[in-house]
Amino acid sequence: MPLDAVPVPAGPREPGPDSGSTAVAHPNIALIKYWGKRDEELVVPCVDSLSMTLDILPTTTTVTLCPQGRPDRVTFDGSPAEGERRHRIIAFVDLVRELAGRSDPVLVETRNAVPTGAGLASSASGFAALAVAATAAYSLRLDPTALSRLARRGSASAARSVFGGFALCHAGHGVGAAADLSSYAEPVPLPDFDPAMVIAVVSTSAKAVSSRAAMRRTVETSPLYRAWAASGRADLTDIRAALRRGDLAAVGEITERNALGMHATMLAARPAVRYFSPATMAVLDSVLQLRRDGVPAYATMDAGPNVKVLCPPEAADRVAEAVRGAVPDGSVLIARRGPGARLLPGAER
Ligand code: PMV
Repeated sequence: MPLDAVPVPAGPREPGPDSGSTAVAHPNIALIKYWGKRDEELVVPCVDSLSMTLDILPTTTTVTLCPQGRPDRVTFDGSPAEGERRHRIIAFVDLVRELAGRSDPVLVETRNAVPTGAGLASSASGFAALAVAATAAYSLRLDPTALSRLARRGSASAARSVFGGFALCHAGHGVGAAADLSSYAEPVPLPDFDPAMVIAVVSTSAKAVSSRAAMRRTVETSPLYRAWAASGRADLTDIRAALRRGDLAAVGEITERNALGMHATMLAARPAVRYFSPATMAVLDSVLQLRRDGVPAYATMDAGPNVKVLCPPEAADRVAEAVRGAVPDGSVLIARRGPGARLLPGAER
């Protein structure tokens, strides 16, 4: 158990239907991407990443402790969760129970405002919300670093959604416990940098290849992966300098090249992983056209066909209109930087 994961002794509270802890977390979009795990069991990323937490599409999760002997239950958007989804949530709750030295069964109720598994960062908001709600339910007090480290065990990108605004996630060093301890996110304070992120939702279907399987295949078979990981280190140094200067054009250029490079590693995997659809390309074309027209707009994509466009807030409506024109069947959302994961009032113990 990490030293900063100190269980708080459980009180005599009788668990009941009104004793749930509810947390809200928002998705984040990486400007410098993480792709590839160096320890799959501990979910330790191969590379550092840097993201912006959004102010839209939150996940709300309530964890309620139940009397001993009851089965664990998980609902997702009101229906019982099954298969891999349920397994990942229960495995995460098991981790919290182990840290807390408790064994109470749970009811986990989670609602996503974002389509799940469509490359819209639902696992980031999902596991950040679960980390906050489950630790509160089991009276496990963790500092923000330990909470981020814990959220990472659910999904590496979730480590960043613990924080609002911009966050840097360390790939960490060493192996085993050393790797686990050294891999967590921390906030990057940038009070004056407040861009918009226009989200082109071209598809809400769950992706055909999970990010977990896709990144494993990329690391194992793509001849481009190492080159991208190395260039990502330079991208991170460059983007941090550009962020400090508040230079949105430079931030955008680095963001776009880092994401396109990540997708190039996937296209070179054997067999190839391709998340781009014709609608993705249409949005990317519209972003290029915006730049030709003098609008500073820069695209990034995750493990799915949807495109996120970084731009100054005053250009967001124009960017949204251009993107809408490119994919008339899609939907477009405008986000700004958002808050970190938090317990809802009344849920504190
Ligand atoms: O956290 P996961 O396993 O859902 O991986 C997602 C990784 C990317 O979204 C593609 C990049 C990132 O850093 O968020």
